[in-house]
Amino acid sequence: MLNRQVSIAPMMDCTDRHDRYFLRLISPNTLLYTEMVTTGALIHGDYKKFLAFDVAEHPLVLQLGGSNPNQLAQCARMGEEFGFDEINLNVGCPSDRVKAGRFGACLMLEPNVVAEGVAAMCAAVKIPVTVKCRIGVDHQDSYEELQNFINKIASAGCNVFIVHARKAWLNGLSPKQNREIPPLRYDVVHQIKKDFPHLSIVINGGIKTVEQVEEQLKFVDGVMIGREAYSNPYFLSAIEEKLFQPTINLDTRHEIVEKFISYVQIQLNNNVKLSSMTRHILGLFQGEKGARLWRRYISENSHRENADANVIFQALKAMESMQTPLII
Ligand SMILES: Cc1cc2nc3c(=O)[nH]c(=O)nc-3n(C[C@H](O)[C@H](O)[C@H](O)COP(=O)(O)O)c2cc1C
Repeated sequence: MLNRQVSIAPMMDCTDRHDRYFLRLISPNTLLYTEMVTTGALIHGDYKKFLAFDVAEHPLVLQLGGSNPNQLAQCARMGEEFGFDEINLNVGCPSDRVKAGRFGACLMLEPNVVAEGVAAMCAAVKIPVTVKCRIGVDHQDSYEELQNFINKIASAGCNVFIVHARKAWLNGLSPKQNREIPPLRYDVVHQIKKDFPHLSIVINGGIKTVEQVEEQLKFVDGVMIGREAYSNPYFLSAIEEKLFQPTINLDTRHEIVEKFISYVQIQLNNNVKLSSMTRHILGLFQGEKGARLWRRYISENSHRENADANVIFQALKAMESMQTPLII
């Protein structure tokens, strides 16, 4: 059984395979999610590229965006074959592009469609099929409507719901605003757990500290963390220490960097661009002396022609000495 106590949210343009590898170095035990991949991209695009990951990333969930049951089943099967530990359906993203494709948060208005998709995926794979949703959308935001939604999808075979504790407005707010403006309603998610005690309920939205995680775990089965894990990734080390491995000496930031450099060197040989990996490590020293210098040095130098892992070494050195580094 997957440990869902703490998971890292799917985030487009953030939680790609390089970011996940980096996060896994900091946190051996949290559950990681891919960015959302649409069924169209998997069926018509370079599926090997979309589904590639390093075994170190386990436990790892593939998040799908889509609504056609046959296509969802086909993609879930692909995910299982590639070795993902779980398939998650995105019913929470409110972007226009997603809405036009009839997936994401607008599907909260069509519980029957979600139920059909979930049933098809459950029939297609042995690994768990889960749903990430909001507490409501537009004017469909009563508790009864959320209850009906959960009930219907659970009857289709989904036992795990990740609930972003705010509603989404499908018109008028950008995706970013939809992560900030609708108020957080943790009480609604707690009530869902009370009313569906047999389901695994994971809460998401605005959680930034170990104390908040511990508090939420009194009410729900798990906590999903998004933006804080990306902008301040070493915070996951505190979570490891508190919740998973209190007796083990966790890697320091410097040790994490050294391990990541080994990974970067291998990926550079596979023709991966340095900047596509280093962009994920900018927040590693958040709150520490020299954090700005670290960010600036890496941002300014990773794009240079022939830039290699030495940029990361130099950034560390520069930060340690807090002097302007030599340009490599
Ligand atoms: C840059 C960015 C990209 C996101 N992409 C996805 C996505 O692909 N799928 C998804 O379900 N949610 C996506 N989300 C929403 C997050 O998974 C999460 O629900 C949201 O950020 C709230 O959690 P937080 O307050 O801990 O960040 C994204 C959020 C951000 C900031």
